[in-house]
Amino acid sequence: MGPKIGVFLFSGGTNMKRMLSGIKPTGQLHLGNYIGALRNFVKYQDDYDLYVFIANLHCVTFYQEPKALRKNLKDAIALYLACGLDPEKCTIFLQSDVFAHAQLGFLLTCQSYMGELSRMTQFKEKSQKADESITAGLFTYPSLMAADILLYDADYVPVGDDQKQHVELARDLAQRFNNRYSKTFVVPEPLIQKVGARIMSLSDPSKKMSKSDESDKGCIYLLDDLKVVRKKIMSAVTDNYATVNFDKENQPGISNLLEIMSSLSGEPVDSIVCRYQGKGYGELKKEVADVVCKEIETIQSRYNEIVNSDLIEKTLQQGAEKASRISYKKLKKVQRKMGIDIF
Ligand code: TYM
Repeated sequence: MGPKIGVFLFSGGTNMKRMLSGIKPTGQLHLGNYIGALRNFVKYQDDYDLYVFIANLHCVTFYQEPKALRKNLKDAIALYLACGLDPEKCTIFLQSDVFAHAQLGFLLTCQSYMGELSRMTQFKEKSQKADESITAGLFTYPSLMAADILLYDADYVPVGDDQKQHVELARDLAQRFNNRYSKTFVVPEPLIQKVGARIMSLSDPSKKMSKSDESDKGCIYLLDDLKVVRKKIMSAVTDNYATVNFDKENQPGISNLLEIMSSLSGEPVDSIVCRYQGKGYGELKKEVADVVCKEIETIQSRYNEIVNSDLIEKTLQQGAEKASRISYKKLKKVQRKMGIDIF
């Protein structure tokens, strides 16, 4: 990472605020991940001291077939780069390459209460849906996520709406630790955009677009064939109102299509709604499909150049070195304050 390294040892050593986020590729990355998170990381990399990682420890809270997991992790890094994250501007790493995550994760698990962890919406949803045993790792997942954030003194955590509660727990844990042991952690703020923070499933717009969707029809993967992408959008579930309005409650399917288009094209939702007065849903879907396919086509062509190049390994090595240096200092500080370290 060249000349930047020295200045970034502590947030505040530079005018740039620090930002951190991660994605957990238990499947292929999808349009929700892209609009809610990834494309924002790309925008932020010029103005923030940005850390983005692949949360591979978080992936194994449920059994993952090892070969499939390895492919998803590699694809995720290739997609980070293909979407425009630049390893010269931000620090990109694999969570398990930086040992301090698991270690601070355990220490923060010991600061977390059973009650607050059992109130986490994602834990409740996932443990209800699970058809296999629920692991203790799924339960303590938010404490590990807090460690991911607090290790780097991140000021901001850009995430989609569904991760807000986890970032709030990270804030609570930071404050609890600071009160108990004196100021140690920066208290991070979630950064959630107004449009596109929760992209919904195309086949059931009452649910979030998600890799754990029962049917594949509702989820657009960044590596889907473009014909498949178009078909999924053209068959998106809408309603019987036959008029294009942004009304999440009564017209969730159409509102979702409007949010997708607005996020990708930059045109405000109101302006799209105006253009579509008196026009049918078919026309709207066609334009949404054009916009989405154009974006995904660019990403896929860059992905094809990157996925078998040595850029992935180089990026991860450079990222792990920098992230390890910074996180180790923080971990030592925490351990000293807790009385774990003798010297
Ligand atoms: P994950 O992998 O579920 O999602 C990654 C990012 O994508 C956002 N997202 C969405 N945004 C809009 N619409 C959707 N349908 C949608 N689906 C997902 C998520 O909000 C998230 O920002 N626990 C995290 C990973 C993580 C993390 C961290 C994030 C681990 N440690 C530290 C930030 C900071 C997760 O499972 O995200």
